[in-house]
Amino acid sequence: MARKDRKNLFHLQNRSLVSMTAPRSPIAEQYRTIRTNIQFSTVDEDIFSLIVTSAGPAEGKSTTAANTAVVFAQQGKKVLLVDADLRKPTSHYTFKVDNHAGLTNVLTRQTSLNQAVKYTEQENLYILTSGPIPPNPSELLASKGMKQLIEDAKMEYDMIIFDTPPVLVVTDAQILSNAVDGVVLVVSSGKTELEGAIKAKEALLQSKAKILGTVLNNKKHQDNQYYYYASK
Ligand SMILES: Nc1ncnc2c1ncn2[C@@H]1O[C@H](COP(=O)(O)OP(=O)(O)OP(=O)(O)O)[C@@H](O)[C@H]1O
Ligand SMILES: [Mg+2]
Repeated sequence: MARKDRKNLFHLQNRSLVSMTAPRSPIAEQYRTIRTNIQFSTVDEDIFSLIVTSAGPAEGKSTTAANTAVVFAQQGKKVLLVDADLRKPTSHYTFKVDNHAGLTNVLTRQTSLNQAVKYTEQENLYILTSGPIPPNPSELLASKGMKQLIEDAKMEYDMIIFDTPPVLVVTDAQILSNAVDGVVLVVSSGKTELEGAIKAKEALLQSKAKILGTVLNNKKHQDNQYYYYASK
């Protein structure tokens, strides 16, 4: 890779982990608001595990999952981020860790959860990357091994966050939504169609998912807000 490309890649990776690289920025503050909203979304039950999903591709699922995991870890919670997007895994790029062993190896009993989990540069944040992509992702995610993995992880971690594929493309997020305490649905401003968002919500509710809330991603700043910040 050329030096210029490496530099670009570095910037890309850092930009998507803004709550780690710029914890005092307004964007990081937004992720802390998401954390608070998740914590207060249920009155009677605590949330120990959740999935982040969206209706379609490229709406900000992985970015939201990673930054939400970071801000929970910054609060002192021991967090496990699981890359359950077995169609298009990205967490190993974001956190710059290898992906030789991960979720698929644990689910096929080739390795244990403890062995497959990796440290990240963020204190208290651990990551389970996807592992090698299998031919049957939905089957693996629906297996008893997946439920066991969540049970095992709950003994070790305070919060487990799953990155997943889009709801309207494959059934994986629906399958997982049933095994966790709640769902965060990402909607991309100006991109997600209203109809798509409604269909995704209906599909999740059909799987008896508990939708904790919606994250509006990619919202453009109003011009006057720019002016306001610029004038300070
Ligand atoms: N709020 C944002 N501002 C700027 N760029 C963003 C924002 N959210 C996401 N992106 C960028 O948009 C691209 C898609 O985001 P991301 O990978 O989080 O989406 P995704 O829903 O996980 O996509 P996929 O369906 O492919 O898994 C990435 O390059 C990411 O860095
Ligand atoms: Mg993604």
